[in-house]
Amino acid sequence: MALRFDLSECGDVNFVIELFNNHKGEPFTYLADTQLFKLFSRLEFCRIFEVKANQVTVGGIYPMNYMYNCGWLGGLLVHKNYRRRGIGRKLLKKSLEWLNTTYTYAFVELENIAARNLFEGWASTLSIGDLAIIERKYELRPIVEGAETKPQT
Ligand SMILES: CC(C)(COP(=O)(O)OP(=O)(O)OC[C@H]1O[C@@H](n2cnc3c(N)ncnc32)[C@H](O)[C@@H]1OP(=O)(O)O)[C@@H](O)C(=O)NCCC(=O)NCCS
Repeated sequence: MALRFDLSECGDVNFVIELFNNHKGEPFTYLADTQLFKLFSRLEFCRIFEVKANQVTVGGIYPMNYMYNCGWLGGLLVHKNYRRRGIGRKLLKKSLEWLNTTYTYAFVELENIAARNLFEGWASTLSIGDLAIIERKYELRPIVEGAETKPQT
């Protein structure tokens, strides 16, 4: 039977935390602070989305409606055994739809080819630095020294 991936708002953040704990030491896999993450989950302007396979959490992300109608994306992780099955794309799409902000920010490391490609799927052009901005039209652009860093709202 084909495995179903169900995306929903996270009912218990501990499962997402466990997912991160199970990937400790792996590249690009970190949750800045567990307590802060728990706090985020209780904020009106933040959502935690998760994807479950057979009732087990295999992916997560948190979009946050940050300030000045800007979105922030953090905590994107897909279980290593479930990658390349569209889960990351699903989580990103849901987050951008929920945010519906003009600009959305995400840290993406230059070496993180998988994440860069994933975000590129939303961009008409890709030019990405450590900090990417996903515009509503899903165009990624870098923040570089000397460039305008404040989005016009
Ligand atoms: C980045 C990550 C979330 C992608 O999740 P995923 O579920 O495997 O991604 P998807 O299956 O939805 O892939 C969507 C697109 O991303 C790109 N992509 C994903 N993994 C890739 C890889 N290993 N190499 C190159 N491109 C990749 C592809 O363009 C892919 O589209 P395609 O399969 O049609 O070619 C996952 O690799 C991960 O959890 N990595 C570790 C944590 C991390 O880097 N988080 C992001 C921090 S910014």
